[in-house]
Amino acid sequence: MDQSETQILNSDARGLARAVSLLKQGRLVAFATETVYGLGADARSDTAVAGIFAAKNRPGFNPLIVHVPDRDAAQAHVQWNDTAEALAAAFWPGPLTLVLPLCPGHGIAPLVTAGLDTLAVRVPAHRGAQNLLRAFGGPLAAPSANPSGRISATSAAHVMEGLGGQIAGILDDGICAVGLESTIVGLTDGEPVLLRPGGVAVEQIKTILGAPLKLRPKGAVLTAPGQMLSHYAPRSALRLNAVSAHEGEVMLGFGPQKCTLNLSKSSDLSEAAANLFAHLHQLDQLGQPIAVAPIPAHGIGHAINDRLQRAAAPRT
Ligand code: TXA
Ligand code: MG
Repeated sequence: MDQSETQILNSDARGLARAVSLLKQGRLVAFATETVYGLGADARSDTAVAGIFAAKNRPGFNPLIVHVPDRDAAQAHVQWNDTAEALAAAFWPGPLTLVLPLCPGHGIAPLVTAGLDTLAVRVPAHRGAQNLLRAFGGPLAAPSANPSGRISATSAAHVMEGLGGQIAGILDDGICAVGLESTIVGLTDGEPVLLRPGGVAVEQIKTILGAPLKLRPKGAVLTAPGQMLSHYAPRSALRLNAVSAHEGEVMLGFGPQKCTLNLSKSSDLSEAAANLFAHLHQLDQLGQPIAVAPIPAHGIGHAINDRLQRAAAPRT
């Protein structure tokens, strides 16, 4: 694909206006959020949304998250409830996605939900994403801006590397601060269910709920590609919980240690999350198997381990 077909847009008024105009024409524009770059399209247009599935080579049964600027905008598309209210009050805008039943007159294109009667909605905190949503004036469907199954993008360069030539534009707004996708909580059948660990730690969600958070039952119908065993995968093989690199391996470290790249020398899990995808992209360029140091499984470390396990899983 000819990467020059994809315009890199600055996050200034001119770039924003261009991005809005492309989106209004039903074209695809990648934009930064605090978690990862999203590949945006008008969520009300099946044709625009079809473009997302084509560009990412994403299986059509995997529904997309719809991004809106605030809670009121979310309520135009879903049936709200008290738990949604409590979680939204605590974590929106921010890296939390809620799955709720669609409401009458929701206006969302059927392709977005892959035919489900539920919708994943998220209110990003990132200023550039907020500006784009408000200037566009409608819901944007946006999966992570990477080819399906591959490492997510936390910079405009990553997006260009994966999707250059296949999308109309990339609104360049620097590096994503959180670095891991949003936490997804399902609120569709009674008790809240954790569908994907992510940027908001499970412990924080439990505190707000004042109750346990159910994990998605094993063997349940697959509703998230992030739940697939192999996902977020570099080309090279990954070996987890490695104390040190074997001969021929490069090492992704954590904490004070000898390694090729370090997620966080000071063992800071937030810093490690922010570096995870960028470091995996970089190590993958070296074309050698990657040994990964153990990461503590608390707080956002839970989500880091989730991504690493899927990145290391046998490829399908
Ligand atoms: O942080 C994020 O969430 C990023 C940024 C761009 O916002 N987006 C993102 O999108 O990670 P994506 O498509 O890579 O992951 C969305 C996940 C998928 O695993 C999808 O299956 C799940 O959300 N999902 C979407 N709609 C759903 C629904 N109705 N029920 C259950 N899961 C759903
Ligand atoms: Mg993704």
